[in-house]
Amino acid sequence: MRSLFAVYIVLAMMPAAAAQDHAGADPYQRVCQLCHGSEGRGDLGPTLVPLGFDADYVLAVVREGYSQMPPISRRELSDDDVRQVVAYLESLSSETASAPALSYDGPRTAAGRPDLNGIWQVLSTAAWDIRAHNAQDGVPAGLGVVEGNDIPYQEWAATQQQANYASRMTADPVRKCYLPGVPRTTYMPFPFRILQTPDHVIMTYEFAHVVRIIYTDGSPHPLPNDFWMGDSRGHWDEDTLVVDTTHFNGQTWFDAAGNFHSDTLHVVERYTPTSSYHIDYEVTIEDPNVFTRPWTMRMPLYRRMEEGLQLLDYDCVDFILQSLTRQGPEEGGAR
Ligand code: HEC
Repeated sequence: MRSLFAVYIVLAMMPAAAAQDHAGADPYQRVCQLCHGSEGRGDLGPTLVPLGFDADYVLAVVREGYSQMPPISRRELSDDDVRQVVAYLESLSSETASAPALSYDGPRTAAGRPDLNGIWQVLSTAAWDIRAHNAQDGVPAGLGVVEGNDIPYQEWAATQQQANYASRMTADPVRKCYLPGVPRTTYMPFPFRILQTPDHVIMTYEFAHVVRIIYTDGSPHPLPNDFWMGDSRGHWDEDTLVVDTTHFNGQTWFDAAGNFHSDTLHVVERYTPTSSYHIDYEVTIEDPNVFTRPWTMRMPLYRRMEEGLQLLDYDCVDFILQSLTRQGPEEGGAR
């Protein structure tokens, strides 16, 4: 039993190893790679993975040339070599078809998960407006982070959003130092830290000392209750951290432009690391009381690289208290 299991593991690991050891890898790298790129991914010439041609056709193209591609003689490459190249490209083709998600090659935790520990930040203007917008005084222009740039508001909700926009300088909950909610907390223009334990992913944010504890121990959402930041439960889908958040109080906005939701908001975030320094962040928003269908935002998270970096303080309650005391003399008389 034990040895059968071992054979199975070796077989399961073979495709990745096979690509480099393939008899066709050498002639490919010697002759075709210059134009068709490493592992057939394309360069001057088109990508050859997945390979849409049979061996006879490729052999004919190689011998006779094809438009911009020069003919290659038998002296340079035997017929046999060309057939091996075709077999090599086919093996790469089946690899990419069966394992598209295995592209992350950064560090992993002891549990084998991508290691996301560190300080991250979104570099976009989503905190001001998640849709495409022109520049304004103090607001950089942005291309938006909403897929298709379309938030499918119900009719009443589109009107409400416009009213929110008109009164945003006073009505934005973040201006009153309320917690920003999810996903706005991610793309506030402040860094945040990810800490991974075996059963939790903890995210701490510089803005207003927000802390999210995301349970990845398989536990369900608690009984109905409501929170500014909702209740977050996570699981791993291959190398993607999927976080499901519900139980919101419905009082947060998506941005400073009055885009909003209700307390039936359901957020699904997907954190997919694409290198040691980048996470592809995708958020799906569902709220049957406000939108006509689910919709999606997407943006990269960047790892902050400064040496000795730490989360500093942005304690906005203090700022509000200070501005209240500054206003004091108007109500209280002498300064
Ligand atoms: C000097 C550059 C160069 C080299 C070397 C080269 N190719 Fe190409 N190949 C091209 C270009 C450019 C095209 C696209 C031609 C076009 O569509 O105009 C192409 C097209 C092809 C096509 C597609 C033909 C079609 O019907 O669309 C195949 C298959 C192909 N190459 C196989 C190979 C193989 C196998 C090798 C190595 C033995 C190789 N090529 C080496 C430049 C090259």
